[in-house]
Amino acid sequence: MGGGNRFSLPQAVLAGESSARIERIAERREGTVGDISVAEPRMTCRNVDVYYADKHAIQDVSLDIGTNEVISMIGPSGCGKSTFLRCLNRMNDTIDICRVSGEILLDGVDIYDRSLDVVPLRARVGMVFQKPNPFPKSIYDNIAYGPRIHGLADGRAELDGIVEDSLRRAGLWDEVKDRMEQPGTGLSGGQQQRLCIARAIAVSPEVILMDEPCSALDPIATARIEELIDELRENYTIAIVTHSMQQAARVSQRTAYFHLGRLVEVGKTDDIFTNPRHKLTEDYITGRFG
Ligand SMILES: Nc1ncnc2c1ncn2[C@@H]1O[C@H](COP(=O)(O)OP(=O)(O)O)[C@@H](O)[C@H]1O
Ligand SMILES: [Mg+2]
Repeated sequence: MGGGNRFSLPQAVLAGESSARIERIAERREGTVGDISVAEPRMTCRNVDVYYADKHAIQDVSLDIGTNEVISMIGPSGCGKSTFLRCLNRMNDTIDICRVSGEILLDGVDIYDRSLDVVPLRARVGMVFQKPNPFPKSIYDNIAYGPRIHGLADGRAELDGIVEDSLRRAGLWDEVKDRMEQPGTGLSGGQQQRLCIARAIAVSPEVILMDEPCSALDPIATARIEELIDELRENYTIAIVTHSMQQAARVSQRTAYFHLGRLVEVGKTDDIFTNPRHKLTEDYITGRFG
């Protein structure tokens, strides 16, 4: 809670700070290691802070999310991965005590602008959660729901087309095409998660946020989702939170390592896992921490 220390390091030395305390000051002042920016950003986050009441959950995070990339967010439990992910489509708005500041742009437009409508924003930046959450509706209606409320289909034939296309892209069509009127909740866990991905795809998102999308799935269903993520990258930008370093290594091109609300390091996934530059990243990926 040190209360905003404004000393620069030499001043701190002159003021007789202990070396441990100077190290802590240095830590607080340190920015993210690695390249936070990319050539073709889909989203641009700058100096993002998030508070839950007076708990400072995300501290001065700046990060670009590239077009058609999969970026994974990793780090110990409670470090702010989900909080940061939720900033990207304003899901934190639904939490009363949560305050977000800083700048987050989607295709150059400030998504926190007061005049911006969050309903179309959440279609453009869709979300898939840890636990598959199909609506208590038929498979067909799960997918048709979004296109209907956003008025994306002109008539039944067009809606049928969107539903089929979304299910195909999510790799689920062949498994469900003969049971479209059955409840989505009757599918297996892995199928339900692909149904939720199809539901997100049905409203033509640009970005899909996934918060530990495989943590409730068995290894086979997980492998299927990971394959799917790789296929979807061609058309969508994906930001995925995962507690599995193996999964981050398998599915993402860039990896962001969070620690206690800060973005410690970001870089190419291979570099992060083979040649981390920050000690905290190294400790985490070698299993010394977290
Ligand atoms: N709805 C909430 N209300 C209050 N504090 C929260 C809420 N959600 C998360 N936090 C706190 O914010 C911090 C970051 O949490 P979270 O983003 O869920 O981390 P992660 O996803 O990395 O496990 C934690 O200290 C957590 O307790
Ligand atoms: Mg989380």
